[in-house]
Amino acid sequence: MILAIETSCDDTCAAVVTTRGDIRSNVIASQGLLHSRYGGVVPEIASRHHLELIDAVTADALERGGTALDEVETVAVTRGPGLIGALLVGVSSAKALAAVRRLPLVPVDHLHGHVVASTLAPEPIEPPYLALVASGGHTFIARVDDPSTYDVLGQTLDDAAGEAFDKGARLLGLGYPGGPAVDRLAREGDPAAFDFPRSAPGELDFSFSGLKTALLYTIRGLGEAEAEHRRPDLAASYQRAIVDALVSRTRAALDREGVRRLAIGGGVAANSELRSAIRDLGVPVWVPPLELCTDNAAMIGGAARFLRPLPYPKYLALDATARAV
Ligand code: KG4
Ligand code: ZN
Repeated sequence: MILAIETSCDDTCAAVVTTRGDIRSNVIASQGLLHSRYGGVVPEIASRHHLELIDAVTADALERGGTALDEVETVAVTRGPGLIGALLVGVSSAKALAAVRRLPLVPVDHLHGHVVASTLAPEPIEPPYLALVASGGHTFIARVDDPSTYDVLGQTLDDAAGEAFDKGARLLGLGYPGGPAVDRLAREGDPAAFDFPRSAPGELDFSFSGLKTALLYTIRGLGEAEAEHRRPDLAASYQRAIVDALVSRTRAALDREGVRRLAIGGGVAANSELRSAIRDLGVPVWVPPLELCTDNAAMIGGAARFLRPLPYPKYLALDATARAV
């Protein structure tokens, strides 16, 4: 039985996962509303709320998982990348929980968690597979031959796909987080109305910052009244450009690698257009339920299954890291 903790951004998460990959519980306390009035995540506010919530969220995960603390054999925690103050709350809490019971601890790379989320029950994906991970903080395509690690084949050179959705939403006068709002508005618009750029910085890499600028200039060019009137078309065309970029690089990666299985993850995997477009690639696609796509601790416990734990007291000196591990 693995108790996993994840606090890399603005969600306080704890989960109980078995070594076979069954999810006993997956508790997510979202701080989203707290940050929405600022138009983005405020790191200091996130850290403070993690501190207030972490004990209750952990207790809740154990209770919902029907698991006593005595039954936990391993503690897993996100070590990075993420907001350093936020990560520190999870790492400190996990170290304390493990140390008092002399349990082993597994430090997990947050991105590894996203990459292997689809290896959890009930229908685990089998390597070799490719994973497209697109969220507010990261966008990349990885190859997995052995789930204890992954190779990044391509990634964004500037903004993440979710960030592009959020920034575009702001330009369109929609709230934060912008992805769901753009997704909704796009349904009423024509995706071919505007031709936004699909930049191709490399065979398998992404670039989204030019797209956001193109939207800004298009809105300015239309003038306030016309831009307001064309908002659904703008949203639909903008979303189409992001989805096209994600799908075309994924297709190129599948072709180049000769891999026939694909998993998607990250908050942008909630996008309705991406979810349908990705199914047209002609390979079996694992689209996990939303709570396994967005940040969660079950995926961290999931990754921990494939990693070697640090024995007590070796992990007492473990530090969180804001950059990729
Ligand atoms: O994985 P996540 O919850 O947190 C990060 O690790 O960033 O992803 C959040 C991102 C936000 O940028 C949000 O706008 C985007 O996922 N998102 C969406 C949708 N739902 C969430 N983007 C497009 N369409 C959606 N339906
Ligand atoms: Zn994430």
